[in-house]
Amino acid sequence: MSRYGRWQRRAEQIEHDGLRRTLRALVPVGATRARWPEGPAGIVYDVFSSNDYLGLAEHPEVKAAMASGGSGAARLISGNRRGHEALEEALSALFGRPATLFGSGYLANLAVYSALFDADDLVASDALNHASIIDGLRLSKARRAILPHGSSEVPSDTTAIAVEGLYSMDGDFPPLPALPNVPLLVVDEAHAVGCIGPQGRGYAATLGITPDIIVGTLGKAFGAAGAFVVGPPAVREILVSASRPFIYTTAMPEGVAAAARVGLELATDARREQLRAATQRLRSGLAQLGIPALGSAHIVPILTGASTMAAAHALLGRGFLVGAVRYPTVARGQERLRITLSAEHDADQVDRLLGALAEVLLPGRNSVPEQRAGRGISG
Ligand SMILES: Cc1ncc(COP(=O)(O)O)c(C=O)c1O
Repeated sequence: MSRYGRWQRRAEQIEHDGLRRTLRALVPVGATRARWPEGPAGIVYDVFSSNDYLGLAEHPEVKAAMASGGSGAARLISGNRRGHEALEEALSALFGRPATLFGSGYLANLAVYSALFDADDLVASDALNHASIIDGLRLSKARRAILPHGSSEVPSDTTAIAVEGLYSMDGDFPPLPALPNVPLLVVDEAHAVGCIGPQGRGYAATLGITPDIIVGTLGKAFGAAGAFVVGPPAVREILVSASRPFIYTTAMPEGVAAAARVGLELATDARREQLRAATQRLRSGLAQLGIPALGSAHIVPILTGASTMAAAHALLGRGFLVGAVRYPTVARGQERLRITLSAEHDADQVDRLLGALAEVLLPGRNSVPEQRAGRGISG
């Protein structure tokens, strides 16, 4: 048997199960379009699958700020720069409590749950919480109670509730007002910060609720990379001095921190309003077509089940990049198209997407309004 036979068999099994994933190298063209050099020649795709919700990732000022070398070491060794601290100061000012940077949202969640909770805790965690929350809880010594998605009923000895501010695969919000008053509330606002709430502070802020701990990312609405945790001063002390995902990893390049700071400044109410308008246009167009979508936010999932990959492929053939979400990211039978909107999507792009969706999802129907008929592959 070959040395790597078991991995070969596992890889073949993944392919056999229809779960093989492949990478596509895209070249951005402005905020919401991209070329795919290995794909059909000359096509510029309309991208509806990015988490660059405010259209900042390709903003010239964000890109210009990226200029820096690597940091060479963890922040506690010799990798800390003024740019990291300036970003933490800006986030602390925005949220009114100390913010601590992490290399990614994934690492931030590993740190929050592994370092801040212990065997005395029972953390009630929504069943649809992101993989990084699940993995953080696995690393922690805390006991867990998994709540059905959207439930506010927790065991009586719960010490903390963990929810997302906007669910990344369902586009819906947690039942924050209905949650019982347990000692601690942790809200991962990865998909909401920048987009929702006063000054873009996230979903909880729209309700005037201040979670004990907020996790936010800098790689989605803010157009850069990395993440942050906001909490009371003692939380910052623990994260810096005793959380492994902070201590044992090389600091993000200073340029990334600088870019995130520019992204924070560019995340204005005007951009949030553009995102809201694009969301409204797509959601009302879908309702008019009779295509049901989940949730109510700028993440627009459409349950397509077993035909999800074929639907995404058909959209690709019409010049649209739309996310296809399948098992194990969602449960079997819950496969879906995941359309994400950007403040930079214009009305024409949204209307053309609606036309393409009608062609792909309602093939027997001839009643697609003329102005909504997809014009095929764009370019
Ligand atoms: C809810 C949630 N938390 C955390 C993350 C991880 O963030 P990052 O991409 O910065 O690692 C994601 C990312 O997709 C997410 O959806």
